[in-house]
Formats: sequence, structure tokens, C-alpha cells
Amino acid sequence: MERKAQESRKGLTHREVPRVVGLLLAMALMNVVLYLCFDRFFISPQHSTKDPRSCPYGYFKMGQMKNCSPWLSCEELRTEVRQLKRVGEGAVKRVFLSEWKERKVALSRLTSLEMRDDFLCGLQMLKSLQSKHIVTLLGYCEEDNTILTEYHPLGSLSNLEKTLNLSKYQNVNTWQHRLQLAMDYVGVINYLHHSPLGTLVMCDSNDLPKTLSQYLLTSNFSIVANDLDALPLVNHSSGTFVKCGHRELHGDFIAPEQLWPFGEDIPFHDDLMPSYDEKIDIWKIPDVSSFLLGHVEGSDMVRFHLFDIHKACKSQNPAERPTAQDILDTYQKVLNLLRDTVMSQTREML
Ligand SMILES: Nc1ncnc2c1ncn2[C@@H]1O[C@H](COP(=O)(O)OP(=O)(O)OP(=O)(O)O)[C@@H](O)[C@H]1O
Ligand SMILES: [Mg+2]
Repeated sequence: MERKAQESRKGLTHREVPRVVGLLLAMALMNVVLYLCFDRFFISPQHSTKDPRSCPYGYFKMGQMKNCSPWLSCEELRTEVRQLKRVGEGAVKRVFLSEWKERKVALSRLTSLEMRDDFLCGLQMLKSLQSKHIVTLLGYCEEDNTILTEYHPLGSLSNLEKTLNLSKYQNVNTWQHRLQLAMDYVGVINYLHHSPLGTLVMCDSNDLPKTLSQYLLTSNFSIVANDLDALPLVNHSSGTFVKCGHRELHGDFIAPEQLWPFGEDIPFHDDLMPSYDEKIDIWKIPDVSSFLLGHVEGSDMVRFHLFDIHKACKSQNPAERPTAQDILDTYQKVLNLLRDTVMSQTREML
């Protein structure tokens, strides 16, 4: 009795020590399990912001494909792809609806060897920039000057009005969906301005129809950039700026700094033409967004709410223009605001 009392006064008995250690181990194990659970539930949003279709470099997934497949090689392009009909053509590529393993795909062929450098630049960009903002690359063959991409039956943004006027798309021909398209478009520009390669400028866009032809409308009504042949790199810290081509540009779709600044008395000379930065893309956003908003019920209300940000995009001084992210944030705010207004009006009517 005396000894027992002494032991309990001293603290834990020899028999109790392993039990406590076990308890501590169990608690530690519980913590690990809880940590893993929390990690799954609370850190997963980080994963979910990634494109669910994304594959490692050199692989692709499209449509209902479950697994990523490696980009098709020259041999596979030659033997497995069946060219069907021409669906588009530009200065660099002739594009054919084609078939690969019973799937519709787009096969682009170089139009003339003179344009090969642009074609290869575009291919390099497609390879480096694969994301939800860019058309999916399925394969390429430099030897044959061919590129295979995912086919989008709704074609380029030039067809938008025609498509949305079809009766089967009436349900998406609303200011909400159209504003969402404008957000997709600005999202692509924002991605290019913060791309894995640095700040890229969408040069192939000297007028509205040309600009629209460089983007495709997907079947689920989002926008992807397709023609990446002219995306020069700006680097503010090293003082690297760009010029979109070597010829004189005209019109008010392009940014003012893209115009010849020395008047008619001095003939245009590329060497004298000053270079510029990615803010030329920002200047063009109001015109593209306005086209995307179209003329449906509510479009003008959206335009009214975007007036200030669009005015800022048209600042003569490029540095005073907002960033693509600023514009995206404003579009999102306007979408939320107008959605709330419409909802409360509907509630009042009921
Ligand atoms: N994946 C595709 N799915 C459907 N249509 C496509 C696809 N790729 C291209 N097209 C069509 O072909 C047209 C021309 O394609 P693209 O802009 O790549 O050619 P380009 O020769 O590089 O043009 P540019 O004259 O602007 O340099 C597009 O505007 C579009 O209508
Ligand atoms: Mg094009």
C-alpha cells in the first residue's frame, strides 16, 4: 500500500507509460488524418482553378477523351488524318475540317513557303501556351508544314452574329452570355500579357474583322485564341518594345501610337517608326467588347456601365490605360451588379 501510494505520488507507473505513449501516438495519427482531410477539402480550390483538361507538355485531351494522348507525329498525321473540306484560310494557313479516329479535327497547311517563319512562330506559341485560353494542339509536322488542332464547328468570332441569330441559340443570345464572351476575350488578352513566355502582344489585329478571325467560338460558348502567328514579346525592364509589322498602319481601330507620328510631309520609314507595348491591345478592347455585346435587350445597359473603363482604355497615353486584369475585374463587377438588379426586379414582379 505504502509503495503504491509512493509510486502514484511519484507520477506514472511503468504500466501506465506505454498507455500514455499509445494515446499520444493515436492523437498524432488523428492530427495527420485531419490535416490530410483539410488539405483535400480546403486546398483543392487551388487545383480546381487549373484547366481540368490540362495535360503535361506534349500531350492533349479533347472532347470526351479520358486520358491525355501524345501530340501526333508526322507519321501519324500522314496516315491517320483524313482531310475533308476547307473551312478557312488566311495569309499563312489553309484550314481543313478533317477526321482523326472518328473525331473532327482542324488540319492547317502552310499557304506559301514565304510565310513559313510566321507559321513556325505560331506553332511554337501553340506549343508553349496551351491552356484553357488557347485552341488545343493535337499534333504537328514541321517537315510537311502541317498543324493539327481541335476543330470548333462554330468557327471564328466573325461568325458570332450569324450563329447567335440561329433559333437554336436564342437562349444564349442574351446580354449575360454576351458579357461573359467579352470577359472570355479580355481573359485571353490578360493571359497573353502574363503568359509563361512573358508579355505577348496580339499583333495580328489591325482591324475588327481581322481581330475576330483570330479567335474561335467553342461549342460551349467560350472563346479561345487560335492564330498565334504574330505575338511579339515586350519586356519593360529590358526596354524591349514591339512593332506590329513593318508597314504603315492606318485607321482608328489600332492604337494611336501605332500610327506614323511625323505627318504627311515625312514619308513613312520603318526605322523611324517608334515601337510600343502591350497597351495597344487594351485600346482595342472596347471595340471588340462592343461587337461581342451586340444589340440585344440589355446590351446598351451593359455598355452604359462599361463606359468609364472603356473610356480609360481609349486614353491617348498608353500608360494611363488600365490593365487587362483591371478591365476583367470591372466586367465581373458589372455582371454581378446587373445580375443582382435583374434578380431583385424579378422578385418584385412575382
Ligand atoms: N480549329 C479550327 N476550327 C474551326 N475553324 C478554324 C480552326 N482553325 C482555323 N479556322 C478557320 O480558319 C480561319 C483562318 O485560320 P488562321 O487565322 O489560323 O489562318 P492564318 O492564315 O494564320 O490567318 P492570318 O491571315 O490572320 O494570318 C479562321 O479565321 C477560322 O475561320
Ligand atoms: Mg488568322
